[in-house]
Amino acid sequence: MQPNGLIRIAVQKAGRLLEGSLGLLRQMGLEIETYKDRLFAHCRNLPVDVLFLRDDDIPEYVQDGVADMGIIGSNLLEETGVVVDRLLSLNFGFCSLCLAVPEQSRITSVPQLNGKRIATSYPATLQRYLDRQGIAAKVVVLRGSVEIAPALQIAEAVCDLVSTGSTLRTHGLKILATVLHSQAVLVARQKLNGEKRALMERLLLRARGVEEARKYRYVMFNIAADAVEAVKRFLPGCKSPTVVPLAEPGYVAVHTMLLEETFWEVVERISSCGGTDIIVTPVEKFLR
Ligand code: PRP
Ligand code: ZN
Repeated sequence: MQPNGLIRIAVQKAGRLLEGSLGLLRQMGLEIETYKDRLFAHCRNLPVDVLFLRDDDIPEYVQDGVADMGIIGSNLLEETGVVVDRLLSLNFGFCSLCLAVPEQSRITSVPQLNGKRIATSYPATLQRYLDRQGIAAKVVVLRGSVEIAPALQIAEAVCDLVSTGSTLRTHGLKILATVLHSQAVLVARQKLNGEKRALMERLLLRARGVEEARKYRYVMFNIAADAVEAVKRFLPGCKSPTVVPLAEPGYVAVHTMLLEETFWEVVERISSCGGTDIIVTPVEKFLR
């Protein structure tokens, strides 16, 4: 079997981004079957192949057209400086690029890194940070397993990605400073055209729909009809809330979309205006 879809989407084959990436693709309606150790999967209902690659290789592959789209950490875009279209921030895969030292190290602040060696897979981002801070340290480039560099006495500090922090803890390292924040982003090769461009745009519309939906909750509640004007003032809704009469005269049901971040505040106000039977559901897709 070979990849033969119109569009190839590259995702991380193992690690921080895999679960979120597959979850997004599935919510975008792509029916993909994944098998352990397979390097790609066909999509059953669209001409799309999903390639499973090392995350660090994905930016170049998308730039060079080996893949048409990809899901990667924004940290890699910063580091590699590849020329790709950044389509959408995906709100998962949050992590930070951090400077860390062994717990018992005498280094306790960034300026003390002057003249020291720092191991990293992110030399460009680290060097820019050191230059901004006016620190002259030696950057030791490692492709992987950066966290063991202090134990091997290759470096006094490391600069590596921290997500849950478990890699650092396991290796007895503590964070000194954060160099960069990162999250997963959807990218595409520049200048896609024809059928590929059309399919990429369909996929992007779907991804936006999934992303937009995650920010909202759908809320329904019952309230006395004469209290509707009062609640309407603090209900953002999309355009305005939907108000439906109930069988019981003088009462209505109000339906509206609420932003997750303001949700509790608004629900409390609904309740204080006499709203009852408040039902909240997640929104699966939301296309504006
Ligand atoms: C990064 C980093 C650490 C790990 C940190 O690896 O190099 O190994 O994630 O995560 P934690 O704080 O949850 O332990 P990445 O996912 O980029 O995989 P790679 O090293 O194979 O490229
Ligand atoms: Zn990586």
